[in-house]
Amino acid sequence: MPGDPKKLIVALDLPGPDQGEELALKLAPLGVSYKVGLELFMAGGPALVAKLAFRYNLFLDLKFHDIPNTVAAAVKSAAALGVWMLNIHAAGGRDMMLAAREAIEVSDKRPLLCAVTILTSMNDDLIAETTNSRSVAELVTIRSKLAAECGLDGVICSSLEIAAVKKSVSSHFLTVTPGIRPFGEAKDDQARVAAPAEVIRAGGDYLVVGRPITRAGDPFDAARKILAEMGVL
Ligand code: C5P
Repeated sequence: MPGDPKKLIVALDLPGPDQGEELALKLAPLGVSYKVGLELFMAGGPALVAKLAFRYNLFLDLKFHDIPNTVAAAVKSAAALGVWMLNIHAAGGRDMMLAAREAIEVSDKRPLLCAVTILTSMNDDLIAETTNSRSVAELVTIRSKLAAECGLDGVICSSLEIAAVKKSVSSHFLTVTPGIRPFGEAKDDQARVAAPAEVIRAGGDYLVVGRPITRAGDPFDAARKILAEMGVL
């Protein structure tokens, strides 16, 4: 059975189940947590998720966003796979978040339920094309407060918003932060990025790291350096 969840969540963004399992096994001595997102889920399906969740602390990152009844049913099925954390889009609204929250209550071992505030690939210009009134910072705060009101455990946000989220909700409300770029690496498609040490300084709870580890020549060494930069090695 998995032990205590570690602050570093490695995104197993790989094309096949074998590659996903292989990387998880390689990094296991570091005691990190893992994330399965759309790419690996489409390749390995629920069976792979259940297998990984049995061995490791697993965040199932499928970002559900649909009508309340559909999301509640999907969340219930996801929770039954034994995952440690799963997520939904806060943009789905209050009723959807409440329905999701209620759905996880029935599972034996309730997973953490977090809401995506604004994708870390979005900036103010990209947001302005889809909504005409608010900045990223405003939307993250509004959606974090709403997620907390609905009984969620935390949010997915960038490092730039951690302080505002903690201040507007509570220091216990979890922040899960993707868009981590150590060693001055390229941002790729991410817009709101930060180095691991900055997230720790800002009081972030969990860091999600994908490509800086998955595309490294030596993923174990890359993960070890990130943990060292976080001050947890
Ligand atoms: O490769 P990189 O470190 O940018 O990967 C970040 C991971 O976090 C990806 O799996 C992406 O889907 C996920 N994610 C994100 N932004 C969010 C929520 C999840 O980048 N708001």
